[in-house]
Order: sequence, then structure tokens, then C-alpha cells
Amino acid sequence: MLQLLRTTWALGQRTGVRSIACLSSLSETHQILQKTCREFANAELAPSARHHDREELFPAEQIKKLGELGLLAVTVKEEYGGSGLDYQAYAIGMEEIARGDAAVSVVMGVNNLYVGTVQQHGTEEQKQNFLEPFTQGKHIAFYALSEPGNGSDAGAASTTAKLNDETQTYLLNGTKAWISNSKEASGGLVFATIDKTLRHKGITAFLTHKDVYGLSVSKKENKMGMRASSTCQLVLEDVQVPQNQILSMPGNGFRIAMESLDCGRIGIAAQATGIAQAALELAVDYSQKRLAFGKQLSKMQMIQQKLADMALRVETSRLLTWRAAWLKDNGLPITKEASMAKLHASEAATYCAHQCIQVLGGMGYVTDMPAELYYRNARVTEIYEGTSEIQRLVIAGSIIKEYAV
Ligand code: CAA
Repeated sequence: MLQLLRTTWALGQRTGVRSIACLSSLSETHQILQKTCREFANAELAPSARHHDREELFPAEQIKKLGELGLLAVTVKEEYGGSGLDYQAYAIGMEEIARGDAAVSVVMGVNNLYVGTVQQHGTEEQKQNFLEPFTQGKHIAFYALSEPGNGSDAGAASTTAKLNDETQTYLLNGTKAWISNSKEASGGLVFATIDKTLRHKGITAFLTHKDVYGLSVSKKENKMGMRASSTCQLVLEDVQVPQNQILSMPGNGFRIAMESLDCGRIGIAAQATGIAQAALELAVDYSQKRLAFGKQLSKMQMIQQKLADMALRVETSRLLTWRAAWLKDNGLPITKEASMAKLHASEAATYCAHQCIQVLGGMGYVTDMPAELYYRNARVTEIYEGTSEIQRLVIAGSIIKEYAV
């Protein structure tokens, strides 16, 4: 399967098809990728999404297959086991996987966030030890930034990293909260401060395996949605991390986090678009089958208005997401555009899932149909990797700078 994606990419290169030059059309490479992911999601993800959600079951088999498809390290170079594709491909893959089962796309999103960060900032030795093993589904990773006392204010991290002069290793102490994948992960990134008085300039990114002395998984959250993906606290008690496991350099962690979250937000925007698309498809399908007052729901203008408003939001979400991906692929700044995509698409996902329930009526409120699952899954996209309020701060900050005279 991984081979299929590589062949797909090579085909695109050979035929001279470039990344989206125009937002309304996809290259041949991206079309094949989209079709592959859609068929996989229809056949292997959607049918088991309800079961995994109800039982809070980690979809291990599906994650293994995502690894084989090359979807756990989409933008990582082939020499490290990745697919060597671009962010446009990542957005397409995320949308299709989320359309099938959004909880599976959480695992995919966090792993891609991690491997993308290590690829960009890691040394060759770090890439051998902390990138390659995480690219093909054998191991998955966590990304531990948030803490119980500071989620949005990432610069206020209070997990400490103290250098032991004798051993020349850092000792990490503190608690990380809301950490996706943390139960099943084999390792990941921990952000800790080497000096809290420096605020964000003290934050440092440490690579660590999970099975090290002093690192434990604590409270597993009982969530409203995305229940097949684990979200836990990570407790660090005198966890020893050698200096050569610092990503980049001491004090550079906040910048690394902000830059990688810019890319992560493209992924969440794509994920939200996938949920919105699934809700739209269900609402259209149901409205054509269900009769009321002697005709199909789809013939009623009030239902048509809902479908039109949903479709509009799906399209605008996708366009904003692809624009951010295209900018990233072309080496252009993405902070504002990724925040816009994430903000718009996550609110669109909640809107579309809400309207889908409304179109289905009682059937939308019960678990026989996936509308309520879409709603529960959509809701967190407005919260993680930066709340909607944080996205508005980022967008406003950028615009004020841009428009300043
Ligand atoms: N790219 C590069 N650098 C950036 C940046 C960006 N996008 N944003 C800020 N910076 C830099 C600034 O230039 C500044 O640099 P200097 O010190 O050199 O001047 C520095 O970072 C500080 O910037 P700010 O003063 O703007 O920082 P702030 O403390 O006011 O915070 C914030 C800004 C946007 C609110 C930020 O804290 C933020 O994004 N918060 C949300 C955090 C978040 O998304 N958390 C989710 C974690 S992951 C998760 O959800 C779950 C999971 O499992 C993955």
C-alpha cells in the first residue's frame, strides 16, 4: 500500500503534474491518493467507527493499515520511511480518513504533527531513533505541550527540566494534560521549561521514549467524542533525558511548537472538513429517502436551505484548508491562513453535524445513524490544537500587523 502511494507520487512527478496550481482542481497524484483513501475509509473505517466509539477501543488494526498506506508520515522523506508527499496530500488524506472515522484521523494527525516536527528540527541521530520508527505504524507518538494549568497559554509551561551537572542529563518533572495517543504511544515530544522566569524563551523540546523510568500515563479522559483515540495525562517524575535528545536547542521549544502547530492546524482543518462532508452526505441521502407530508424531505425548501448552507461551508472549509497547504508547500507563511482554515472548518463541522441531526430529526438523535457521532466528534475540533478563540487572536494579530501603516 505504501508502495502504491509512492508510485502515485512518482506518476505525478513524471507527468509533470504539480501541486495544486489552481484551487479548484487536483493533480493526478492527489486524485489517486484521494480515491485510495476514500475507498479505504468506506471499506475499513466507517463500518467499525460506531463500535470503536462505544467501546473506546483503540483501532489498532486500522492504524497498522494507515501505516502501510503511508498516511502516518505523509510529508516525511522516503529515506526515513515516510511517503515523501506534500501538505496538499496530507490535507486530502486527513479529510478522507476523518470522513470515514474521525477518531482514527486523530491518531494520524498527532503522529504526522510529531514526525513532521522531528524531520524539520532533528539531527541525523535523532531521526534514526525518533523519526524512522514512527513512520509506518509500528510505533505511534504523542506531542506533549499542554498542562493541567495551561492549555491555551502554551508559553506558561511549568513542567521543569533541570540539568544535572554530574550526569549531564536533564531531569524532567511535571504533568502534561490532554495528550492524544499517549496510552498507546511508544514515545514523543515533551515541552518543558529550563527556566520559568524566561517564560516562552525557557521552553525546550525533549524527545523521549515512553518506557523510561519516571514517565507514566495517568488519568485517561472519558470524552464526549473521538473516543477511540486515547487522551491521557502524562506524569513525569525525575525523567532523565540526555542532552542529545533536545530538539534544536534549549529555549527554542516555543518557536518549534508554534511552527509545528501551524502545520497541525492544516490537519485539523482537513479533519473537520471530512466530518462536515460526512454530515452533508448523510443529510442529503436521508432527505431523499424520507417522506413527510407526502413528499421527500429533499423537495422541501427549508431542508434545501439547510443542505445548501452545509454544502457552502464544506466547500469553503476545503478551499481554505487547501490554500494553507498550498502556501506551506510553496514555502510561504501560513500562520494566519492555517488559523483561518482551522477556525472556519471546525465551526463548519459543528454546524454541519448540528444541521444533519436537524434534517434527520429523531433519527439524528439516536445511535442508529452516525449523525450524533459526527456532532460529538466535531466539537473537539474547535478546541484542540488551539481553540477557536486562540485562532481569532492569531488571525487578528496577523491582520493588525499586515494593515499597520
Ligand atoms: N510561528 C513562529 N513563531 C511564532 C509563532 C508562529 N506561528 N507564533 C508566535 N511565535 C513567536 C513570536 O514571534 C514570539 O517570538 P519572540 O519571542 O522572538 O518575539 C514568541 O513566539 C512569542 O509570541 P507571542 O508573544 O505571540 O506568544 P503568546 O505567549 O502571546 O502566545 C498564542 C501566542 C498564539 C496564544 C500561543 O500560545 C498558542 O498558539 N496557544 C495555543 C496552544 C495550542 O494550540 N495548544 C494545543 C496543544 S496540542 C493539542 O491540542 C493536543 C495534542 O495532543 C496534539
